[in-house]
Amino acid sequence: MPRLYDSRKRILVTGGAGFLGSHLIDRLLKQGHEVLCVDNLFTGTKRNIEHLHGHSHFEFLRHDVTFPLYVEVDEIYNLACPASPIHYQHDPVQTTKTSVHGAINMPGLAKRLRCRILQASTSEVYGDPAIHPQTEDYWGNVNPIGPRSCYDEGKRCAETLFFDYHRQHGLEIKVARIFNTYGPRMHPADGRVISNFVMQALRGEPITIYGDGDQTRSFCYVDDLIDGLIRLMEAPAPVTGPINLGNPTEFTMRELAKLVLAETGGLVAHCEATFACG
Ligand SMILES: NC(=O)c1ccc[n+]([C@@H]2O[C@H](COP(=O)([O-])OP(=O)(O)OC[C@H]3O[C@@H](n4cnc5c(N)ncnc54)[C@H](O)[C@@H]3O)[C@@H](O)[C@H]2O)c1
Repeated sequence: MPRLYDSRKRILVTGGAGFLGSHLIDRLLKQGHEVLCVDNLFTGTKRNIEHLHGHSHFEFLRHDVTFPLYVEVDEIYNLACPASPIHYQHDPVQTTKTSVHGAINMPGLAKRLRCRILQASTSEVYGDPAIHPQTEDYWGNVNPIGPRSCYDEGKRCAETLFFDYHRQHGLEIKVARIFNTYGPRMHPADGRVISNFVMQALRGEPITIYGDGDQTRSFCYVDDLIDGLIRLMEAPAPVTGPINLGNPTEFTMRELAKLVLAETGGLVAHCEATFACG
């Protein structure tokens, strides 16, 4: 339902040309808001937002969040950060800078504007968790010096900065810990299990399942995740999170492969000896 003029906001979405960001923008525009999409197009593409070209409520700004930004908005969703291991390990120093400098520059902007800001955090802040499922009060088990640390520790530091801006400056923050999400506009070569399976099936290749295929993961459909982000943003000020957002139901890799094969009419799955799904 489009909003009336007086409830329309001007909303900044960083990382808006990426998978989740572009869906969030679609939803915010549908709700009648104005959206400023900020992205350096590292993993995002103009193709994800090309259908918005010419939309009177949409603007795109090519900008890197590691640098300060001076714009006027009513609300900020900070999603900028490569999300898949292939992408965030490509330039790990830049990955940490994106999370950490982004979590200084964007809350800094929100502080100047006295506006609400949401941080897209991740289930990876739990690292290699010692408890299942992880609840938000679990502090995690994270390696600070490994090849994934640029992402995991960068996102942890971003959460720290958000909560310090909240305690020290009274900033209204929302922190969402996002679990595996899938849907249209996922990067086909992001190396994650759903994209791997779908791409193999579409190419007519056998689907590769590492290990015995009984290992489980949960996957959240993008529309549901976007519902969660917007509901968190609209929650009363005392609700800061962190809040886990994802699908509580687990699937085995074998079930996932069968579903992908059924949907694509692909070939028979084969198994390999080790497990390494993302
Ligand atoms: N997709 C998931 O399953 C998932 C899971 C957990 C957390 N997240 C988080 O959600 C957010 C969005 O993830 P996604 O799946 O849409 O990833 P994505 O890679 O598709 O989107 C990230 C966007 O950020 C942009 N970006 C990267 N570095 C930037 C910088 N320095 N300045 C400006 N823009 C920059 C990229 O170009 C891209 O458009 C990320 O912060 C990610 O960590 C996603």
